Amino acid sequence: MESLSDILKRARTEGWAVGHFNASNLEQMRVICRVCRDLKSPAMIGTSEGERDHMGLAEAVALRSALRHEFGIPVFLNADHSKSVETAKAAVDAGYDSVHIDLSAKPFAENLAGTKEVVIYARAKNAGVVVEGELGYLRGESKLQKEKIEIKPEDLTDPDQAEHFVAETGVDRLAPAVGNSHGIALDEPALDIERIRAVRARVPESVALVLHGGSGIPEDQIKAAIAAGIANIHVNTELRVAFVRGLRQDLSEHPDETTPYKLYREAEQTMAKVIEEKLKLFGAMDRI
Ligand code: G3H
Ligand code: ZN
Repeated sequence: MESLSDILKRARTEGWAVGHFNASNLEQMRVICRVCRDLKSPAMIGTSEGERDHMGLAEAVALRSALRHEFGIPVFLNADHSKSVETAKAAVDAGYDSVHIDLSAKPFAENLAGTKEVVIYARAKNAGVVVEGELGYLRGESKLQKEKIEIKPEDLTDPDQAEHFVAETGVDRLAPAVGNSHGIALDEPALDIERIRAVRARVPESVALVLHGGSGIPEDQIKAAIAAGIANIHVNTELRVAFVRGLRQDLSEHPDETTPYKLYREAEQTMAKVIEEKLKLFGAMDRI
């Protein structure tokens, strides 16, 4: 199976982005894999700390392996937004393919030291595990925002600092703050495309740039971000909204239904539609 790093490198040179989709149960993981298989895209599944606490680390890893086997496509599991060295290490130990160590809310020196510690740990434990670091401050959570999010200039990633951070930590992927935020914002996001280009120019080609907060970003901005050097895009809120909307619809249309698995049909379909749209927008079809 082609490695995640090789696929990201290919995405960069071919001008597309690998979709990273969050999940917190079997149904969602399977929908992601099914759509990816149908569209011939690699599948990258993310679990935040909350999502993997819900599923269980070992369970998520076992499902990843089972789905990889069942669907016959590259399926990678990422420990998204690990907020401490400990939770990142626990994901490496459990058999995750990738960990995202996110110490971006901490002072620069602490972020750098903690991220480096995770890279060293992951390499020693399993040479195949890849590590993503984050620099700059990303506001918001993966939900429909009720208040306006104000992105401050000091939140944004400084390209010089990014160069230093990547060289010192040895991360495989870097998530910069470039005008993006988590969740679906009230006002239209405005990505700083020039900053993406500047960061891209300062870090080695082998390091993939990741765009977080992929929900609610207009199509033209996504395309411009990919052209500027983004090779990996995270989407969560739009999937959550689609899934819960579908679930609510099934629950209200079938008030007497008590067989749990029969209540996921609409949720799976609405979520699949979002994944399909995103993969097409990212140019990720027919890539495997
Ligand atoms: O890590 C997860 C993503 O950055 C999701 O962001 O909820 O805005 O799509 P989103
Ligand atoms: Zn994120």
